[in-house]
Amino acid sequence: MAEAVPEQCLSCHDGDDEDFRAAHLGRAGDSIDCRKCHDPHVSSDEGLIKAVGHDPFVESACDVCHPDGQGEGP
Ligand code: HEC
Ligand code: HEC
Ligand code: HEC
Repeated sequence: MAEAVPEQCLSCHDGDDEDFRAAHLGRAGDSIDCRKCHDPHVSSDEGLIKAVGHDPFVESACDVCHPDGQGEGP
C-alpha cells in the first residue's frame, strides 16, 4: 500500500472532528490503527465493524476495559 492505513483512511474521513472523537474515546484518527476494529472492505455489521466481535466490545461496554474513558490500553 502506498500510504499507511490511518493516512489512507483519513484522506476521506476527518479523524479530528467531534463525531470521530466521540466514537473513539477521545482519540484522534492519526493515533490509532483502524484495522483493529474496522474491516476496510466488507462487513455484515453497521459501522464496518469486524463481523465477529468480542462480547464486551460489541455491547459497547467500553468502560470494563477503559474505566477512565480514554482510548489507551487499560
Ligand atoms: C475514497 C474515500 C474513502 C476512503 C479512502 C475510506 N473511506 Fe470509509 N467511507 C467512505 C464513504 C463515502 C463512506 C459512506 C458515507 C459515510 O458514512 O461517511 C464511508 C463509510 C465508512 C464507515 C462507516 C461510517 C458510518 O457512519 O457507519 C467506516 C467505519 C469507514 N468508512 C471506515 C474507513 C476506514 C477504516 C478506512 C481506511 C481503511 C476508510 N474508511 C477509507 C469513503 C472512504
Ligand atoms: C475486553 C477489553 C476491551 C474492551 C471491552 C474495549 N477495549 Fe479498547 N482496547 C483494549 C486494549 C487491551 C487496548 C490496547 C491494545 C490495542 O490497541 O489493541 C485497547 C485500545 C483501544 C483504542 C486505541 C487503539 C489504538 O490503535 O491505539 C481505542 C480507540 C479503543 N480501545 C476504543 C474502545 C472502544 C470505543 C470500546 C467500546 C466500544 C472499547 N475500546 C472496548 C481493550 C478493550
Ligand atoms: C478500538 C476500535 C476502533 C478503532 C481502532 C477505530 N475505530 Fe472507528 N469506530 C469504532 C466504533 C466502536 C465506532 C462506533 C460504531 C457505531 O456506533 O456503529 C466507530 C465509528 C467510526 C466511524 C463513524 C463515526 C463518525 O462519524 O466518525 C468512522 C468513519 C470510523 N469509525 C472510522 C475509523 C477510522 C478511519 C479509524 C482509524 C483512523 C478508526 N475508525 C479506528 C471503533 C474503532
